[in-house]
Amino acid sequence: MLNSGDSTYPVDQPRLHIKGGYSLAGEVRISGAKNSALVLMAGALLADDTCYLRNVPALADIGRMAEILQAIGVTVKEQSDGIEINAQDLNATNPPYALVSQLRASFFAIGPLLARLGVANVPLPGGCAIGARPVELHVRGLQALGAEVIIDHGVVQAYAPKLKGAKIYLDYPSVGATETLMMAATLADGETVIDNAAQEPEVVDLANFCIAMGAKIYGAGTNSITIVGVDRLHGTEYDIIPDRIEASTFLLAAAITHSEISLAPIIPGHLTAAIAKLEEIGAKIKLEGPQRLRIIPAETYSGSDIETLPYPGFPTDMQSLFMSLLAVSKGNSLVSETVFENRFGHVPELNRMGADIRVKGNHAVIRGVPFLSGAPVMGTDLRATAALVVAGLAAKGETIVHGLQHLDRGYEAIEIKLGQLGAKLERRGGVTQPVKC
Ligand code: UD1
Repeated sequence: MLNSGDSTYPVDQPRLHIKGGYSLAGEVRISGAKNSALVLMAGALLADDTCYLRNVPALADIGRMAEILQAIGVTVKEQSDGIEINAQDLNATNPPYALVSQLRASFFAIGPLLARLGVANVPLPGGCAIGARPVELHVRGLQALGAEVIIDHGVVQAYAPKLKGAKIYLDYPSVGATETLMMAATLADGETVIDNAAQEPEVVDLANFCIAMGAKIYGAGTNSITIVGVDRLHGTEYDIIPDRIEASTFLLAAAITHSEISLAPIIPGHLTAAIAKLEEIGAKIKLEGPQRLRIIPAETYSGSDIETLPYPGFPTDMQSLFMSLLAVSKGNSLVSETVFENRFGHVPELNRMGADIRVKGNHAVIRGVPFLSGAPVMGTDLRATAALVVAGLAAKGETIVHGLQHLDRGYEAIEIKLGQLGAKLERRGGVTQPVKC
C-alpha cells in the first residue's frame, strides 16, 4: 500500500495517472450503449436462431454477460464487427450464482428463460454500491403474467408453462422491470399492457430489437407499452444505439477543460437533458449533422440545480459527471438524487481535490471553487469513477484515479479516447478484476 497524505491506496491495482490542465481537441467516436447491449444480449435468448448484434462495446460487463449466456447453453461468438448469439440450444434454466453475482444485468435472463422454457431459476442479483436495487417490480409483473414465483435460498424460481398477457402497472418506471416484462410478454398468450413504463432510450432499443425478431410491441418510449404475444421470435441483425452516458462524459470532459470537441455518432434527442443543462450553465452545443455535435465551452460556468429523474428527466447516470463541473462553477448548486439512495460516492473524493460539497440526505450542496487540485482518489462505482476522471482532467497537478474495475465496466478504451483528444493520462498497475454491480 502507498501512503499518500492521510489515505492509503493500493499500488498493485490498475489506476489512471492524469496530468490535469491540458485542453482537448478533435473528434471522439462514441461506442454502442452498454445498457442496451447488455439487455439485448439477454433479449437474443428469445429467438430460436442466430441474432447478430453490431456496435457492441468492448467492456468487462459484456464479457461477463457472454459467459452467463454460455453457461445456459447459448453459443456466443465474437465477430469482427459484433457478437453472434444463438440460443437454439438454450437448455439450462439456472444461470450460476458465481457469474450472476458479478453482473446485475444478468437478472435480465429471467424474462426470456421463462418465456422460452417455462422455467427460470435466477439468483437474486443483490444490491451494489449505489443502492439496494430490489427486483420486486420484476417479480410482481411476472406473477401478473401468470408465473408462479417463489424466492428460495436467494434464488428467484419462476414457473409458467405458458405466460398470459396482462395489464401491469409499475409503481415506479423501473428500466429493468420494464425490460424484463416486455421481453417476457413477447411470447405470452394475448396482449400485455405495461403502464407507468420506463421511457429510456435503451427500452426503445430493446423494443426495436424484439420487433426486428418478429415481436409486436407498440408505444415503447411512452409510458404505456402494449405487447401482443407471438408464437416465436426469429434471428435478426441489429445495430445498438450510441451510448448517451459515454457521450455526456466526453461533453463534461470538454466543458471542464474549456475545450472544443466534436462527438459522433450520437442521437441528439437522447442527450436533451444534458445539452439543456450545459447550455444553461454557459456552454454552447452545435449540431453538426444528424449524429454529430460540437461543444463550445465557456470561460466560466454558473452554478445550477439538478434533480435526477426517470427519462426524459435528468439521468442519474450523469449526476456525478455534472457535479465535477459544478464544483468549479461560479456560485452555489444543489444536486438532488432521487433515483438511487447512495449515489454520492464521488463527493468525498471531489472534496479531497479541493471541492466544497456538503451532502444532506439525497441532496448535495456545492459551493463553486476556483480550481481543483490533483490528488489520489478512489472510485466507488462506475459513474463516480468517471466523474473523478473528468475532475482530474481539469485539476492542477496529478490526479491518480483508483477503482478502475468500476470504470472498465462501462467505458471502452477511455484513456485511449481521451489521449487521442490531447489529455495527458496513463494507465498503470495490474489487470482489472471483476466487480459486482
Ligand atoms: C438501469 C441502468 C442504470 C441506470 C438506471 C436508471 C442498466 C443495466 N442499468 O438500472 O445504469 O442508472 O436504469 O436509469 O440498464 N427499483 C425498485 N424495485 C424494482 C426495480 C427497481 O425499487 O423492482 C428501484 C431501484 O432500486 C432504483 C429505481 O427503482 O432506486 C430505479 O431502478 P431501475 O430503473 O430499475 O434501474 P436499473 O434497471 O437497475
